[in-house]
Amino acid sequence: MRRLLLWMARSAWLRERIPHLPLARRAVRRFMPGEAPEAALAQAEAFRGQHIGSLFTRLGENVGRLEEADATAQHYLGLLDDIAARGIPGELSVKLTQLGFDIDEECTLSHMGRLAERAAQHGGVVWLDMESSAYTERAVALYERLKAQHANAGICLQAYLRRTAADVQRLLPLDPAIRLVKGAYDEPAAIAYRSRREVDANYAALAIALLGARAAGRAVRIAIGTHDVTLIEQIAAHADALGLSQQAFEIQMLYGIRMDQQRRLATAGYQVRDLIAYGPAWYPWYMRRLAERPANVIFALRQIVG
Ligand code: FDA
Repeated sequence: MRRLLLWMARSAWLRERIPHLPLARRAVRRFMPGEAPEAALAQAEAFRGQHIGSLFTRLGENVGRLEEADATAQHYLGLLDDIAARGIPGELSVKLTQLGFDIDEECTLSHMGRLAERAAQHGGVVWLDMESSAYTERAVALYERLKAQHANAGICLQAYLRRTAADVQRLLPLDPAIRLVKGAYDEPAAIAYRSRREVDANYAALAIALLGARAAGRAVRIAIGTHDVTLIEQIAAHADALGLSQQAFEIQMLYGIRMDQQRRLATAGYQVRDLIAYGPAWYPWYMRRLAERPANVIFALRQIVG
């Protein structure tokens, strides 16, 4: 089921058609407050009252023309101003292929630089999302160049990839901001752990390496990007054993998933950030959310029927 859903996520034919179905548009609302940026901003304001920070992502990937990348960058610059004007503790999470990575890498770097510069004026980080393994090496290399010029750049690394332990060691000297996630794409066994047990074990090992670096005095910002509360508790216990405070790492989750836990963890004193997606190009992203938990398909069908 997971592989089928991830194949559907990549299908251009389905991407053209499914988003036009009113029933599908209704189902996606479970994972996004609305398509308009205003819906995301309003949700972030509500989170602020619950001591939950926000990450904003305008859905879209693999743009085919540089004009689209320029428009996306322009949109995000305006959004950063809106975030600042409303006093929202909000940061951006951006896909490189949304900023022209398939067409012109220098143009992508320049857009990321402009976003980081604007975000720095408001004191926030700009995060690079991590896409499929076709991009990993180039994304890590671009992050190294971006980070050399902009202290407030962060990157997402995927625990299912065998290479990630080496990437963590490669990036640590840069005092990076790293969001650790399990990984959402369909990757072959040659380069990725495929079983849940292996992915979780690698996630814990990577988080422990990051906490160890932090305990040793490295200025690494650690974001634990998972809804796996058991894993979060293990990581919190490890941080505690290292003598680190509750603020040594933050927890990032997606809008619509384990909201009860997001509120509970924020109330318990952890730094929690919720990633709020918006925009009309939600199809592949939504399919990856369904693939993460195939029971979601039943939920979506029930919403469509009911
Ligand atoms: P796991 O899949 O083990 O889920 C743990 C529990 O969380 C489940 O038992 C279930 O209760 C709940 N849950 C998880 N996913 C759910 C879903 N879709 N619907 C309902 N319940 C669900 N990936 C990537 O490859 N590149 C990226 O840039 C990012 N960025 C990113 C940012 C943030 C803030 C988060 C939280 C996640 C990502 N991801 C990502 C996605 C990530 O790789 C992963 O696919 C999802 O987080 C699901 O895995 P969990 O870590 O939650 O664990």
